[in-house]
Amino acid sequence: MIDPVASQNANFEGTTICPSPVPGELLAYIQETFAPETEALRTLTAAARTAGMPEGWEITPDVGRLFQVLCRAIGARRVLEFGTLAGHSAWWLAMALPEGGKVVSVEINPEWAEAARRALDEVGVGMKVEVRLGAVQELLETLEREVRERHMPYDAVFLDTDKARYPELLEWSTRVLRPGGLLLADNVLRSSSWKGQTLLDPLADDPRILAIRRFNRILAEHPHFTSMILPLRAGVAVGVYEPPTTAP
Ligand SMILES: C[S@@+](CC[C@H](N)C(=O)[O-])C[C@H]1O[C@@H](n2cnc3c(N)ncnc32)[C@H](O)[C@@H]1O
Repeated sequence: MIDPVASQNANFEGTTICPSPVPGELLAYIQETFAPETEALRTLTAAARTAGMPEGWEITPDVGRLFQVLCRAIGARRVLEFGTLAGHSAWWLAMALPEGGKVVSVEINPEWAEAARRALDEVGVGMKVEVRLGAVQELLETLEREVRERHMPYDAVFLDTDKARYPELLEWSTRVLRPGGLLLADNVLRSSSWKGQTLLDPLADDPRILAIRRFNRILAEHPHFTSMILPLRAGVAVGVYEPPTTAP
């Protein structure tokens, strides 16, 4: 008997695209029905190829659509994203925000940041996305200060950069998220860059895998997040933030 998951995953052999635990034909059905590829996404992908960005690093349309549903559900207006690449996830997030909404998207690579700015302009969401050039670890203080000084916390924070920093970014996000805000994180079950090592392999020694295990454990047990992993693609973590109540 053909294992539908294994056969679908076989399609990804030799590529950098992360396989999915959902059988291929069902995944295609979900994506075609709820999140078809758009002209804007094709433009962003073309910009990624021109700029020499690696293939398959961007979130897929099913994950993008999920983010839109979640952002709409909480009436998000301001979203912080770590990891722009060509702007695919920024586009999905921006399209979920109302007029005047803003995605701040952090990118370490200057050429990629510039290519993303141009491409996001071209697909019509340039006004809604601020691509902020810099390393996440160097921008945390500034981002936090901005939130404090402007009294404008984020409605959602999406983690999609260096996985080894996820535990640190999880704790940091509590300083910039509003009550009821969302923490989103990609690759919490697997990544094509883990070179065959898996999340549950007791012998795995990749620091990113060890960090993701810590991240998932902390998020699952965190007293101020109600959270879950959606086994979509590489695994998406979703947490709803509820800050500690302060005594009157
Ligand atoms: C997986 S890609 C992001 C994909 C994007 N979120 C999307 O779905 O379209 C990760 C991006 O994070 C950037 N990056 C990696 N480490 C970073 C860091 N420490 N600070 C800022 N950006 C970083 C990489 O250059 C890359 O563009």
